[in-house]
Amino acid sequence: LHKKKLFVANWKMNMTTQESLAWCVTHKNELQKSSSQIVICPSFTALARAGEIFKDTGIAVGAQSCCEHEKGPFTGQIAAQDLAEIGCSYVIAGHSEERALGVTNEIVARKMVTILKAGMTPIVCIGEPQTIYDAKTTTNFLTKQLAPLLAVTDQGAALCIAYEPLWAIGSGIMPSLETLKTIFALLHKKAPKATLLYGGSVNKENIASLQSIPYINGFLVGGASLNFDEFNLIIS
Ligand code: PGA
Repeated sequence: LHKKKLFVANWKMNMTTQESLAWCVTHKNELQKSSSQIVICPSFTALARAGEIFKDTGIAVGAQSCCEHEKGPFTGQIAAQDLAEIGCSYVIAGHSEERALGVTNEIVARKMVTILKAGMTPIVCIGEPQTIYDAKTTTNFLTKQLAPLLAVTDQGAALCIAYEPLWAIGSGIMPSLETLKTIFALLHKKAPKATLLYGGSVNKENIASLQSIPYINGFLVGGASLNFDEFNLIIS
């Protein structure tokens, strides 16, 4: 799907709209020098202006979530079509922090359908909790989690799939490179047409070794994407 490596900055709810837009304006020129595809995901309220700031720069803007329904009586929800209209080209679906609030795998699959229908690329997150990892049943868990998600498109075509072990998010710890090699080989086998990303404690120290793992085509970066100098080292 993507020829260039993809670097997705997931800012979560860490910066205000003003802070996010100041970041985008200040670092736009430097970011543009990257040969990778950069996707910035600020909060909803910053998306429209961020889309304007990055217009014609090659830097993409993504939302952190959207509603699984196209339109209707869903107070407080945000439709995929609205996100497309204000310049988003990616939407994260099923981040573990969203799943923790009750968003099921079936809802995530429906979100993916609405995102694709609105002409954007879903970045669907999968990953096992600590208990599954400790029980060494990660492969089985991921296979089950992927099934309804992969039913949405042929072999993962038009999707970004981000493998984010829950215990690696924001914790500073990560699976071993050997474990990641096995998991990404599995993901590639299951979804040969998808762009595969790794997420969970990616930083400027570990990025080089992560880059060496076959089938990883990009990264979902949380904490380390907030600071431009660190993010710039990760993407270059
Ligand atoms: P982290 O977050 O890089 O801070 O671990 C990644 C994510 O939650 O997408």
